[in-house]
Amino acid sequence: MTEAVLLVGGKGTRLRPLTLTTPKPMVPAAGVPFLAHQLARARAAGVRHVVLATSYLAEVFEPYFGDGSAHGLRLTYVTEDEPLGTGGAIRGAADALEAGPADPVLVFNGDILTGLDIRALLARHERARADVTLHLTRVADPRAFGLVPTDADGRVLAFTEKPRRPEEIVTDQINAGAYVFRREVVGSIPAGRPVSVERETFPGLLAGGALLHGVVDASYWLDLGRPAAFVRASADLVRGVIGSPALPGEPGEYLLLPGAHVEDGARLHGGTVVGAGAYVAAGADVEGSVLLDGARIGQGARVRAAMVGRGARVGPRTVLDGAVVGDRAEVGADNELRDGARVWCGTAIPDAAIRFSAV
Ligand code: GTP
Repeated sequence: MTEAVLLVGGKGTRLRPLTLTTPKPMVPAAGVPFLAHQLARARAAGVRHVVLATSYLAEVFEPYFGDGSAHGLRLTYVTEDEPLGTGGAIRGAADALEAGPADPVLVFNGDILTGLDIRALLARHERARADVTLHLTRVADPRAFGLVPTDADGRVLAFTEKPRRPEEIVTDQINAGAYVFRREVVGSIPAGRPVSVERETFPGLLAGGALLHGVVDASYWLDLGRPAAFVRASADLVRGVIGSPALPGEPGEYLLLPGAHVEDGARLHGGTVVGAGAYVAAGADVEGSVLLDGARIGQGARVRAAMVGRGARVGPRTVLDGAVVGDRAEVGADNELRDGARVWCGTAIPDAAIRFSAV
């Protein structure tokens, strides 16, 4: 039986205000909590037991996912009262694992959407007889990530988190947030205190002579930490750019959840999701965006690559491009919010108050 630990306890600060009341893995992407896509992909790769390592807003996971049987999995919940970081969370999950000391345990960051072949990663781990195997991906600008150079055999040579100096950028391979741990390595992480697996555990293992193996994989990969990436991931899931067994419908230009109402003459495209009870007025154009449950888009509004929170209202002719509108916020008519603008939950922007701005 293959087991996995999913790290879902982070505060998701970069995704505020959407993560003020909902933990990032529970924010809907393509109509269901993002975590549902991850669980479905894990299930499809043969995983049957998942330990959810929760902390921030821990109480919201179990009411939705229950014992996991509806998703074809067995779920165990472990909770840190204080967030113990990625390593502390993995260590905290150890007691819930059933794997033997030499068995593999998958670990996934809860905010990565990837087409990684999980079975192939496990096979590479076995073949390399590694202590830890890491999924690596190549990015054009690795500066915001953890760099992981490897030798010709895939052996990890170093870890450099978020390099500052040009001479530190020795590779375009980054830590992609999916790992296979030999079970006994999980047990070697110190318990009960904050540990970063990226900054402490992996460099420590390397210094101690452990075999860390990197698998560079070129399939779809996106870190959903920022709003623009989250919206893009949702749109890619809706359009089938990346497949998910959890998509509630067929892939297409848009997805309407039950109770969504779209007036004739409105245009939906680019992988837009219209949430339950949400409303789009005539003449509105909504492209590649996420409208959460009960959101309302006014006549002639143009919404692109944006996220509109639960029960939020967007006034007539208003333009949202790369903006995030928090739950129950109201943006009046004839405003223009672009490029990372955020409207806090419950706030109101009067008509024609903002042009080309970030809030
Ligand atoms: P930001 O606050 O925006 O950086 O997001 P984040 O809190 O999710 O942090 P980050 O993206 O670095 O976390 C990567 C993954 O690890 C996410 O899936 C988090 O949910 C998870 N994670 C981060 N810190 C913790 C923690 O202390 N405990 C647990 N259980 N999970 C964590």
